[in-house]
Amino acid sequence: MNIRTICCIGAGYVGGPTMSVIAQKNPSIKVIVVDVNKARIDAWNNENLSKLPIFEPGLAEVVKEARNRNLFFSTDVDSAIDEAEMIFISVNTPTKTYGAGKGMAADLQYVELCARQISKVSKSDKIVVEKSTLPVKTAEAIKDILANTNTAVNFEVLSNPEFLAEGTAIQDLIDPDRVLIGGDQTEAGLNAIEALVNIYTAWVPEDQIITTNLWSSELSKLTANAFLAQRVSSINALTELCESTGANIEDVAQAIGSDSRIGPKFLKASLGFGGSCFQKDILNLVYICKSLGLNQAADYWEQVVIMNNHQRNRFAHQIVKSLHGTVAAKKIGFLGWAFKKDTNDTRESAAIYIADILIEERAYVQVFDPKVTLLQIRSDLNGLNTRSETENDKFLVNHSDPYETLNGTHAIAVITEWDEFKSYDWQKIYERMQKPAFVFDGRNILDQKKLESIGSVSYTHLRAHETGRNL
Ligand code: UDX
Ligand code: UDX
Repeated sequence: MNIRTICCIGAGYVGGPTMSVIAQKNPSIKVIVVDVNKARIDAWNNENLSKLPIFEPGLAEVVKEARNRNLFFSTDVDSAIDEAEMIFISVNTPTKTYGAGKGMAADLQYVELCARQISKVSKSDKIVVEKSTLPVKTAEAIKDILANTNTAVNFEVLSNPEFLAEGTAIQDLIDPDRVLIGGDQTEAGLNAIEALVNIYTAWVPEDQIITTNLWSSELSKLTANAFLAQRVSSINALTELCESTGANIEDVAQAIGSDSRIGPKFLKASLGFGGSCFQKDILNLVYICKSLGLNQAADYWEQVVIMNNHQRNRFAHQIVKSLHGTVAAKKIGFLGWAFKKDTNDTRESAAIYIADILIEERAYVQVFDPKVTLLQIRSDLNGLNTRSETENDKFLVNHSDPYETLNGTHAIAVITEWDEFKSYDWQKIYERMQKPAFVFDGRNILDQKKLESIGSVSYTHLRAHETGRNL
């Protein structure tokens, strides 16, 4: 079966880039991306490509090529569902903030709403594809809703989880390690799988496309993220030990990663992982294990998140400790707010939690991020509900210029590993800082020797043996 029209519900960080690449590589397929958020759709349709709602290297070029050729962005969800033979569900699945499983389970209300809307509108057979990361067995619920609310048409449900990482999404989509497609092992299910395989083979070699049953696919996505996050927590768990023993975490990571059984990637010590996926997916895995009575497995995975929280807190408290035990009324400059470089996404960024601790200690937090707006920073902090919005505003400062932002600060915390931070004029920054001047490099990206040579008191958080030296 050859698909002619695709609809994707959810024009977010996953749906937007994924559909753009599918449309670029399949010019004969019409791809309609829909979203309930009108402002977001307007931004996707903006003539000015620098105004797309998502910053992702290479995305603007793909959108430019495919938009209004065979790629369309719209708020008319019903028409798009009606027209499409294949519908991707790419809505967000945040951690539940209420009821049973609060703080752990995935909130599937948007996914369920999508299923109900698909069922209500459909007049012809549809293949429904789960793109969002979902708990294992979610397809069962989707099938149940579809089968019981619209008996006139046939629905096949597939799982096709996305493995793109933000900041490298286009590269990851164009040259994926693998594409995973799960579906029922029935004749209709296998036909649906084949229809989706045909879309990907437009640019992905067939031997890189893995097909499985639905449950293996759903569970693989959840656990792939857990494995990745576990590596970050494992290396971060060693930073403290390095600091106490005089070992250098980067040397240790290199030595560990050179073992081909372990590999060098994802061993970069940091102030803790962020992003919309890792924490949410592990908590969800923990919840599933607990629900099945697998308490040891639940505890094992939960430790990855506990370690991550500890690393964030530790970074903030070391700033306080180094600044003679108090940051009250002191100015702390933040370089970066996004959860990693090359994205404007701030969800679960360590920045939010570190700023919250410092503001609780009454420090002024002055933030510069090349791609994140003050509006977003304020909304992230207010989202924690630690204090009133007015109070947060009192302690939060943001400038569009990095030098302006760092002017008069007592300390600088490097939060995100944006490349441009490395090439700043650190002599100029140092001269305008309060003395003694501290730099806490939560990403190990700055040249510590150079910083020390210009006379700053450099406390480079994760490079243990040189830390805390008063030069
Ligand atoms: C993705 C995945 O889909 C999610 O499973 C994963 O775990 C995190 O990343 P993402 O694309 O990053 O989500 O989410 P987001 O950028 O919030 O986009 C979701 C979009 O869906 C939003 O634009 C929202 O407006 C839209 N939406 C949500 C709908 O159109 N309808 C709804 O009912 C709910
Ligand atoms: C992740 C997965 O990588 C991707 O496959 C999945 O589809 C979605 O979730 P993403 O969250 O976009 O992608 O970014 P990722 O590159 O995985 O980084 C997550 C966090 O871990 C970031 O805060 C990053 O700074 C941190 N990290 C990553 C480290 O601290 N050290 C590392 O070595 C790698």
